Amino acid sequence: MRSVINLKQGWYYCDSFSDDFLRHDFAGYAWQEVTLPHANKEIPYNYFDERDYQFVSTYKRNLSIDPAHRNKRLFLDFDGVMAAAEVYLNQVLVGTHRGGYTPFSCEITDAVNFGGDNQLVVVVDSTERPDIPPFGNVMDYLCYGGIYREVYLRAVDPVFIENAFAKPKNVLAESREVEVDVYINNPPSRAAAGQLCVSLSRDDQVIAQTSQAVELDQGGIQVRTLYLTNLSEVELWDLDTPNLYQLNVELKTDLPTEDCFTTKIGFREAVVRPDGFYLNGRRVKIRGLNRHQAWPYVGYAMPKRAQQHDADILKYELHLNTVRTSHYPQSRHFLDRCDEIGLLVIEEIPGWQHIGDDQWKQLACQHVREMIQRDWNHPAIFLWGVRINESRDDHDFYTETNRIARELDPTRQTCGIRFHARSEFLEDVYTMNDFTHSGGDLVLRDQRQVTGLDYYVPYIVTEYNGHMYPTKRFDQEERLMEHGLRHMRVLSAAGLDPHIAGTVGWCAFDYNTHYQFGSGDRICYHGVMDMFRIPKFAADAYRSQVDPKKDPVLSPVTIWARGERSIGGVFPLVIFTNCDSVEIKVDGQNSGKFYPNRLQFPGVEYPPIVIRHAPPVFGQWGSQWYDGEFVGYVDGQPVIVKKFIKNPVATTLEIEADHNHLDADGCDVTRVVFRMVDQVGNLVPYINDFITIEVEGPGEVVGPKQVALIGGCIAAWIKTKPTPGVIRVRAVSSRLTSEQIEITAR
Ligand code: GAL
Repeated sequence: MRSVINLKQGWYYCDSFSDDFLRHDFAGYAWQEVTLPHANKEIPYNYFDERDYQFVSTYKRNLSIDPAHRNKRLFLDFDGVMAAAEVYLNQVLVGTHRGGYTPFSCEITDAVNFGGDNQLVVVVDSTERPDIPPFGNVMDYLCYGGIYREVYLRAVDPVFIENAFAKPKNVLAESREVEVDVYINNPPSRAAAGQLCVSLSRDDQVIAQTSQAVELDQGGIQVRTLYLTNLSEVELWDLDTPNLYQLNVELKTDLPTEDCFTTKIGFREAVVRPDGFYLNGRRVKIRGLNRHQAWPYVGYAMPKRAQQHDADILKYELHLNTVRTSHYPQSRHFLDRCDEIGLLVIEEIPGWQHIGDDQWKQLACQHVREMIQRDWNHPAIFLWGVRINESRDDHDFYTETNRIARELDPTRQTCGIRFHARSEFLEDVYTMNDFTHSGGDLVLRDQRQVTGLDYYVPYIVTEYNGHMYPTKRFDQEERLMEHGLRHMRVLSAAGLDPHIAGTVGWCAFDYNTHYQFGSGDRICYHGVMDMFRIPKFAADAYRSQVDPKKDPVLSPVTIWARGERSIGGVFPLVIFTNCDSVEIKVDGQNSGKFYPNRLQFPGVEYPPIVIRHAPPVFGQWGSQWYDGEFVGYVDGQPVIVKKFIKNPVATTLEIEADHNHLDADGCDVTRVVFRMVDQVGNLVPYINDFITIEVEGPGEVVGPKQVALIGGCIAAWIKTKPTPGVIRVRAVSSRLTSEQIEITAR
């Protein structure tokens, strides 16, 4: 049977490389003990030099191999190393890989020393090598370096299951079934015979199984196909009911060998048609945002819990139904979570506008294969992006990427994200970054204007806004309002156009970038949330698009001050809400009830309320200023209240952890958010203060311990140590101290 060990701990890191390392001469260099995921260099939040992490570094680790594995085949499985890796075991080169976003495996069977020490050395080139996508030209994101995802040691019998692709069929009929292609790896020297068994289960209950006798030729990967039929009792995977099933594949041969491969699958039909996107036969408007997998200080190197939490934020805080993994395959933990919670995914190969030479293109084709073979069982993924984001047309290259995708996975449509009109349509779905909207009346183009075709094709808008209106969370309130309105206008325009299957905006979170982009400080402030995943007002444009019975939303886009805006006051006042109406009280007096603006935003289910002119009580510059209270009503009942105070004072330093129970493995993290608030709990956005984050117990702060509050708040990630215990965290500012919270590491 197979054994898989996660090699999270026990690594030593050196921020350089020397040939000495390949001769096992490690002395005289500074080695630092690290855990994975690991960033080759921690960088400041902003205003750093992006060349700082672009160097060659080395990771080493001792591997102890169980003597019982003497007759096994042994592999090292790397989930992601940026950007190129050379792997040596006991001075033998056992594998190389180019490309930082897709996994690779190195067979180490013949290099292992069963009796003694095994020294693993991984040389990691994190420079922007022009031979590796996405590199070769300028690009608007950073590809931080290091072994930033997990590494596993896998021991299998000589004949083993390399992969399995489960293809649910006829899912909308009673006769639904699943076709399972099993990829069997047989050693070069021997033929084998045996039995292959596939079963489908849920909560440990087997629902269906089947088996097949197999004769395997010697050598190579061989595919066998099995069918599980009559799956009428299987429940579909859908947005609100993301039912998942476990697929087990077992192989026994006469050599004798035994192996088992397990994956989760879901049954759904997801297809984009000229008149919209259909999930399980029901038309669903795609409403999503793009996500970069980047965090402050450590870039990409965040573990499972943080990856999962991002998916939760998109689904449960922003109420989106889709995410695009711009512009590369993202962490499998993120994708697993999308499966679990019902968040659709458009996944694409690494790239940004630039297409390299023939070898570069071949590598991009390899990335198409690696992406699909890693991710083909995720029910959440419904589209493969097989173009370099926003690149020019390239007939031969993109004919080939489409061919590869369709051959490997005939069950999903392809797309290719472009930003120029009339581009050659080689994919199944035309995906366009439509940046038409820049505040005026034009919002989205008719798809025929974009495609140049005189008929409709399956069509999704995969980006809008972004650089058209960069907005910081701490920007002036009128800008924050317009930022939110621009997102809302696009949602509304798409909602009215049946030939736009949906929209995926730019973007979910602010991200670090190169100096040629962003605000000069290496940040693109394009998110509806900042890099700490703290919402801007535009987040509420999305958040409000949900049934108020599930989550009532009431977000007046204002910090409620007399003189924040030009000419003063808080009007025109926009309220992102899903309530039927909102009542405003000023100084305790009722100043009227206000209703969603269906006229201006007819295409969304929950239009914002827009109050153009101030009721008289608000007075003018130079008059009194009052407390405010907003009450949201649904079905005639008050369901949510938002209060503002006329004379805010920094009153409390709030502290809140996303997770209070972590794994004591030296890698697990939780975000902790610190908010400086006034007497009624609102952020004091212009506070000029810092906080010191104090941690006691087996945990540490990722990044600096002393940070400035940005727009009244900030977050930090607290990381466990490989020791169980209670981690106590609090923050101290120049004027306030937060409560102390406890996080248990087990
Ligand atoms: C697009 C690009 C994104 C990002 C965005 C900013 O052209 O695909 O990666 O740069 O612009 O608006």
